[in-house]
Order: sequence, then structure tokens, then C-alpha cells
Amino acid sequence: MARRIPEPFRIKMVETIRQTTAEDRRQALQQAGWNPFLLKAEDVYIDLLTDSGTGAMSDRQWAGLMMGDEAYAGSRNFHHLADTVREVFGYAHTIPTHQGRGAEQILFPELVKRCRGQRPVFLSNYHFDTTKAHVELAGARAVNALTPQALDTGTAYDWKGDFDLPRLREIVAAEGDNVAAVIITITCNSAGGQPVSMGNIRAVSELARAHGIPVVIDAARFAENAWFIRQRDPAYAGASIASIVREMFDCGDMFTMSAKKDGLVNIGGLCCFKDDEALFRAVQVNCVPMEGFVTYGGLAGRDMEALAIGLKEGLDDAFLSYRIGQVAYLGERLREGGVPIQTPTGGHAVFVDARLLLPHIPAEQFPAHALACELYLEGGVRAVEIGSLLLGRNPQTGKQEPSPFELMRLTIPRRVYTNDHMDYIADCLIEVKKRAGAVRGLTFEYEPPILRHFMARLRPV
Ligand code: F0G
Repeated sequence: MARRIPEPFRIKMVETIRQTTAEDRRQALQQAGWNPFLLKAEDVYIDLLTDSGTGAMSDRQWAGLMMGDEAYAGSRNFHHLADTVREVFGYAHTIPTHQGRGAEQILFPELVKRCRGQRPVFLSNYHFDTTKAHVELAGARAVNALTPQALDTGTAYDWKGDFDLPRLREIVAAEGDNVAAVIITITCNSAGGQPVSMGNIRAVSELARAHGIPVVIDAARFAENAWFIRQRDPAYAGASIASIVREMFDCGDMFTMSAKKDGLVNIGGLCCFKDDEALFRAVQVNCVPMEGFVTYGGLAGRDMEALAIGLKEGLDDAFLSYRIGQVAYLGERLREGGVPIQTPTGGHAVFVDARLLLPHIPAEQFPAHALACELYLEGGVRAVEIGSLLLGRNPQTGKQEPSPFELMRLTIPRRVYTNDHMDYIADCLIEVKKRAGAVRGLTFEYEPPILRHFMARLRPV
């Protein structure tokens, strides 16, 4: 194995975490209706539910908090943020939002209004779940066109986040004026934090432009995507992350961003436009009643300052190499231990293939969720299901949608855990694998009508 590179930071403040007993965990999980979302965070030893808003800010960001200008309108921190967006992405117009979904809710209705067709549709490599929800709330359909290579978790492929271009062309031809926008999700979270290649981003953008379709970048993990491009595409071997970011965003017209990921903040989002001033103005109008006045969008001045600093820190080579290297390290430990994972590992998480690990549990008994429960019982590690439970039912037919994946996501917060934590997580999961045959599926005790995975209560069958 390559020499381990230690974390490119030293620790200035610590937060105690406490291990619980097996009996504590059994009780806690039972009380939580076999749903890790409903656990108290203090009953969790290592929390891998999400990388969203769970990262550690730097000393510079904390210092930035003290520089908050809490003016209702025109805060200094807003201008710092908008300047940073211009510098990093080359986009002229910035609207801050409380988080990624805030940007989605103010943007998508405007794209639907502008759509020339009668049955608006958004096309993406893969819509994140809130993205799909906001497309549907805006009265449109969400259609994914992901490369089929992403579905084969066992076979390595460099660009599992890519669009399936032939399929995208087919849909664009068939839907014509109905296409309201193309959303390029970088990295592709749902496929395993997998990168989209520069060639694919460019091809999607050219196709969209040829048809007059706006290109939205869902930019939550933009820096990780740029890092993968430099690592895997020989044409970018010597390029800076900053220049790759600029080139990716040149292919888009606007972006929505959950800044809680690569923006390195605990809360925040962005909705930005390259040069479409009319659209920017229309979305600003939506911002005021939904998110707040256009120069704060649901954020405190100090939050915008931390974000302006975080956007640039997130481009740092040493940080990104450590970050993605740590995820790869956990993946490598699991692979050595015979745990089937999405290969290669992505930017923000290791995705365990529960269909392969627990083949005796059918999709309707949520194998990846059962695995997450078992991992919690084993060692107090909280992971999250990305599969049938998350996908839910077809609103028209009430039938379970067939999920392309049954994955358990081990999502790594940024700058929070060390590689010793990674070893512990791997040891626990390898232990669970030994008794995989005895793990039971789950059935609903309470099934919420929408976004059911958050609030569902279940029990083992
Ligand atoms: N787009 C992508 C690709 C995401 O991963 C997320 C959030 C959002 C949009 C929405 O952003 O949460 O700030 O409103 N992903 C988190 C996750 C929640 O756990 O993957 P948000």
C-alpha cells in the first residue's frame, strides 16, 4: 500500500464521543423504531449518516464568524461571498440560501415557467432526493440518465457519475420542448459519490446548448469532482483544481449548491447565475418570501463569511488528497475484508452493496437498511440506506419503485475523524459480515406518506 499521508491539520479543539454497550444500543435502536435517523446523536459513537453540515470548520472560518456583519440588507459578508463566487466559478450573480434545497425551491419553478413544452421534465445523471422532490413540487418530472456502468458495483470504472449520452440524446429527441433543464450532479451522490468526467460534462452541455436547454450544475461536491478529473484524466494531470473548477462551470448556465459539503460549512447554500440576469432577477423575487432578503437568503452574515472562506479552502490540494484518500483507505480495508463495495470508492463515502452482502433479504425488506441497523448494534456506527426505503413508492400506483441499488452509505464528514476511526468502522463491518446470513430484513410499523425513510418505524421480520 502507498505510504499513509497523515491529516494535513492539527487539532485545536476536541469534542468527546462516548461508546455505549451492546445492550444500550439494542434499547436505543428499538426505541428509534429500527431507524437510525431517529436515534439520539449522543447514542452514536461514530456518525456516518451524512457528510452534509457535519464537517469541522477551520480556525480561519471560526475567525470569520466573528466578522459577521448582521445588517439585514447589503451585508459586507454577502459581498465577500459574491466576490468569491465570481472568482472561483466565474458566475456574475449570487443568491445565498439556507441550504441546497432552498436554492432548488426558488429556482425550479422559474425554469418550469420558461419551459416551452406542456409536460416539463428535468433530466439528470441522477437527481438527489430533495432535487427530485423540488422538481415534482414545481409540477415537472425528474428523469435520470446514468451510465449503466454505475450499476455494476464490483467492476471499477473511472466515471460512474457520467450521463448515459446515447440515452440522454434519445430522451431529448423524444421530449423536445418539454425539457426544462439538464441538471449535472457533481459528484453523483446517489451512484456512490462518483465523478463525472470533463468530456461528459462538455458533451452534455453542448447537447443542451444545441437544443436551447439550460444547464444547471448541482454543485454540492464540485471540488471532489475536480480532484477526480485531475487524478484520472491525463489531459488534466498538471492542472490546478481551481482551473478545473472554472472549466466545469463554464459548461453550465447556473448552479445550485448545498454548501454543507465542499463549501465546508455547517449550514448554507447558493443559487448562482453565469450571466442570465433576467432569470436571476426572477429567482431573487422568489427568494424574498421563501428564504429571506436577497443578500442573506436564510443565513446570518457570519455564516456567509464562513462560506466565503470555506469555498476557497475546499480547493486546497493537500486537503482534497487527504479527504478522498481517507475514503479510499476505508474502502480498501473493507475490500480486503471481503465486504462488497461500489468500486472505485467515491469522494465522500464508501457505499456497501447490501444486495451482494445480504442476498437472502428481498428489496421490500430493505437489505441496506437492515445492514445499517446491524452495524449500529455491532459498534455504534451510524450509516444510511440508499436504496428501496429511500426511493419509496410510485405516487400514482402506490407500488414500491424498483431501486437500481441497495446500498449502505458510510458517509465521511470532512476533517472530523481520523484513520483510526476508519479502522474501527472497517473492523465492525467485517464482524457483521461474518454473521451476514443471520441478519433479518425489516418491515414497516409506520410508513410516512412521503420522504418515508426519515420518519419510518420498522421491526425485524
Ligand atoms: N444535491 C445533492 C447532490 C445532495 O447530496 C444534497 C444533499 C442536496 C442537493 C440538497 O442539499 O441538504 O443542503 O438541502 N445531500 C445530503 C446527503 C443531505 O446526505 O447526501 P441540502
